[in-house]
Amino acid sequence: MSRVYVAYSLPEDILRPLISKVEVEVWPGEEPVPRDELLASVAGCDGLLSMITTRVDEELLAAAPNLRVVSQMAVGVDNIDMAACESRGVLVGHTPDVLTETVADTAFALLATSVRRLAEGARVVTMGEWGPWNPWFLLGGDLHGITLGIVGMGRIGQAIHRRAAGFQMRVLYSNPTRRQVPGASQVDLATLLAESDALVLSAPLNDDTRGMIGAAQLKAMKPTAHLVNVARGPLVQTADLVEALTKGWIAGAALDVTDPEPLPADHPLLELDNCLVVPHIGSASVATRRAMAELAVANLIAGLDGDPMPARFPSS
Ligand code: DGY
Repeated sequence: MSRVYVAYSLPEDILRPLISKVEVEVWPGEEPVPRDELLASVAGCDGLLSMITTRVDEELLAAAPNLRVVSQMAVGVDNIDMAACESRGVLVGHTPDVLTETVADTAFALLATSVRRLAEGARVVTMGEWGPWNPWFLLGGDLHGITLGIVGMGRIGQAIHRRAAGFQMRVLYSNPTRRQVPGASQVDLATLLAESDALVLSAPLNDDTRGMIGAAQLKAMKPTAHLVNVARGPLVQTADLVEALTKGWIAGAALDVTDPEPLPADHPLLELDNCLVVPHIGSASVATRRAMAELAVANLIAGLDGDPMPARFPSS
């Protein structure tokens, strides 16, 4: 019988199809499984159901010589050494599509919160600093009619673009390959930075995108612009972002993801009124997280059975 290790506990009903076919061990902890425990647990396994916190690298693959399938409960797979998996013939699955609309909702919520200064307003109220109404207090930008720049026009970028139409936004985007998206214009990064009133990052983390937003790029943005990141923290050079927000190179930022992650409570980003940070919850709706878990289980079963995975990475 095949053996599978599941790196975080999942609802029983979602695991049932797996449990009925293979021997399943589930990490029961609230924290990610410690590395030593992970390496020992995958030793005799044919399959691994991984999270973004599960580093799948040469060391892990060497510790799991029988491993045939890694099924990741996330769309991003930057924690997985794809070349190492490929060279050992290990199949990788992930969970695109099912989270697209939820992440786009989150991007839009962060965008609105930053541009309209909602978190700052809420903080004023909870701090007991809400004084008499003042016509010039806490003025922000508008959401409607702005130029929205999207970095990475994949599934999530396109879902953000669909929402932008409802706010009469002009949408520009950059993407590594040419991509026709009706109602939006593909431009180079320099144009995107210069013309956007808000920039949303929705690109995968890889060698080309790591650190792509640093001091030079932040200085090239409008001083009234806002930055939203729903992709991966390391796309942005954190120290440069702190400087940009402190010195007014840009007006504000709203981040679902940071580098490092989790962000320590005493991190300089958290001292800035014009920066909102939420803890990597872009896809965290009840329905979407269940759909992601179901797809991860389906990918694992298909991979172990030698059937085409519903969502293999990379898709052929
Ligand atoms: C992903 O799917 O890559 C997210 O970051 C976790 O939901």
